[in-house]
Amino acid sequence: MIPQPFIVDLLNRIDIVDAIDRYIPLKKAGANFVACCPFHNEKTPSFTVSQSKQFYHCFGCGAHGNAVGFMMEYSGLSFVEAVTQLAEYAGMQVPATTSVPAKQSDNFGNFESLQDISSYAEISAQDLLNVLQTAAKFYKSQLKKSDKAIAYLKKRGLSGQTAARFGIGYAPSGWQGLSEAFADYKLERMRSILSQVGLVIVDHDKQYDRFRDRIMFPIVNLKGNIIGFGGRIIDEGEPKYLNSPETTLFEKGRELYHLFSARRAIRESDRVIVVEGYMDVIALSQHGIDYTVATLGTAITSFQIQRLMRQTDNIVFCFDGDNAGRKAAWRALENSLEFLSDNKYLSFLFLPEGEDPDSYVSRHGKEFFEQQLTHALPLSEFMFKELCGSINLQTSEGRAKLINKAKPLLQQIKAPALVSIMLKRLKDLAGIDQNQIEGLVQLNSKPIQKTHRKKNNDTRKVTTPYRRIIMMLLSRPDYLIKLDRKLLVQCDENDSEQNALKALVDLLDEHAYLVESPLTHSVLTYFNDFSYKELLENIESEVLEWSDKIDLEEEFMGAQRLLLQAQRNHRKAELHSKSLAQLTDEEKQELKQLTSL
Ligand code: UTP
Ligand code: MN
Repeated sequence: MIPQPFIVDLLNRIDIVDAIDRYIPLKKAGANFVACCPFHNEKTPSFTVSQSKQFYHCFGCGAHGNAVGFMMEYSGLSFVEAVTQLAEYAGMQVPATTSVPAKQSDNFGNFESLQDISSYAEISAQDLLNVLQTAAKFYKSQLKKSDKAIAYLKKRGLSGQTAARFGIGYAPSGWQGLSEAFADYKLERMRSILSQVGLVIVDHDKQYDRFRDRIMFPIVNLKGNIIGFGGRIIDEGEPKYLNSPETTLFEKGRELYHLFSARRAIRESDRVIVVEGYMDVIALSQHGIDYTVATLGTAITSFQIQRLMRQTDNIVFCFDGDNAGRKAAWRALENSLEFLSDNKYLSFLFLPEGEDPDSYVSRHGKEFFEQQLTHALPLSEFMFKELCGSINLQTSEGRAKLINKAKPLLQQIKAPALVSIMLKRLKDLAGIDQNQIEGLVQLNSKPIQKTHRKKNNDTRKVTTPYRRIIMMLLSRPDYLIKLDRKLLVQCDENDSEQNALKALVDLLDEHAYLVESPLTHSVLTYFNDFSYKELLENIESEVLEWSDKIDLEEEFMGAQRLLLQAQRNHRKAELHSKSLAQLTDEEKQELKQLTSL
């Protein structure tokens, strides 16, 4: 653990422009610096570095962070390594670390004194990762010893090299196989870790391995850490696949199998294939198609889609041609609509009945498979095909139904060109004219005419008051004392901006030094609440488009006035909706006061 004050000091001393410029040459553009983004493919620079705010943001892929984050992302360093590297540039000495031995070890079998650890060390995320890594090593070593497992993989056409590349292993059939991998398997602390990562099931005084007699597929997150496993039964049996349960490290809706290792291939081919199974990914990879990822037994979420969109503009969903495949595809479509833009291309490849990507590529080979990819059905066509499939367009009722079904889908799309074209298509199918269709569908974002907001100082007008307040606080944490806490009293759990503001205020309250001493870097460095981080980063990036002429304080107070007024109006309406007899004396008093304001 590096002490926080050191990191604050380091970030205050270094200049992110220098730090990044060592790796990618930056060009000055107005108040900021720009370059082509190193995190996704692009020809015109949208990677922007703010010298005054000391952060980078890519308007193309959303990559965002400070100097430490850049070093981690760009060079693949750990947090400590990144800090150390930057300290070296700045000529600073990283203070000696004082940490519990448990944090450093990657093999729990090797502790000299097991008693020590079980009695004092708290369990950290690193402990969980270490255990998963040790387990993966163990499963790999077990695979070498199991003729049965090896024969199964051979039968499925896997080469030893592929198995090694994917870290495939074998969980032996005993109930306590893992006791061989962890000498302190039975100790309270280890038992707790093993159950927290889902490798062991603890039932009263019994504990046993979750994965027994299964082929093991490690699941790796975007930092390259193993965070869970998928386990396939050998030959027949139920359930065919058993996956790690969701844990603090592993959320199925956020991770994608093989994404970490596929990133380079995705960038180079500028596309990604999304399939359903581990074995599909592995078979495609063995055939030389490495830009493939799989969901983890659930429908693809919008989070996962956005994650992929950061890597490439082309996503091909490859599903079985059966009913289940079409259903999965429709879910993927629904979860993508909101994030489509005119430079994204999403398409669907349906395989013939009875085939999956594994069998299909094994039968036909790489070239044929890649050729099929280019014939995949574009999202818009898939949508109309599905919508029309169950409708008789010969009848007026059928055509009305089509409009009704298409409406909520089109309303989600924010890509102006795409929505225009789809609207035109809908108009032709429904046999009515352009004005009528626009009246009926009532798009939230008008097609084409209103393109992107202008990059000038008018950004203020498009943001909400909460966003503005957040923006100011990010820029000037010392404005915290000007903040009227009434704004945070009634938090609507559905209002993510209000909640993000609350989370930010909590952070500032907790770390007074962020407010007291002027920072040259973003306070988001210290923000770890996953649920709001992305939103806050997004808001922070709007700072890049500000003009210097804005009177920050005036903005801040103005936004606050607006919100407080809205809050009062809301409360007034609430009280007015009751009859006078229902109101308590206090409420009457409150109403009187509100009305006089
Ligand atoms: P499939 O049943 O399509 O299997 O499940 P597959 O990938 O073709 O596997 P093989 O070829 O028979 O080995 C696709 C994915 O759905 C999840 C797994 O993630 C699997 O890779 N799944 C499937 C489960 O989580 N549990 C199951 O019981 C089955
Ligand atoms: Mn299969």
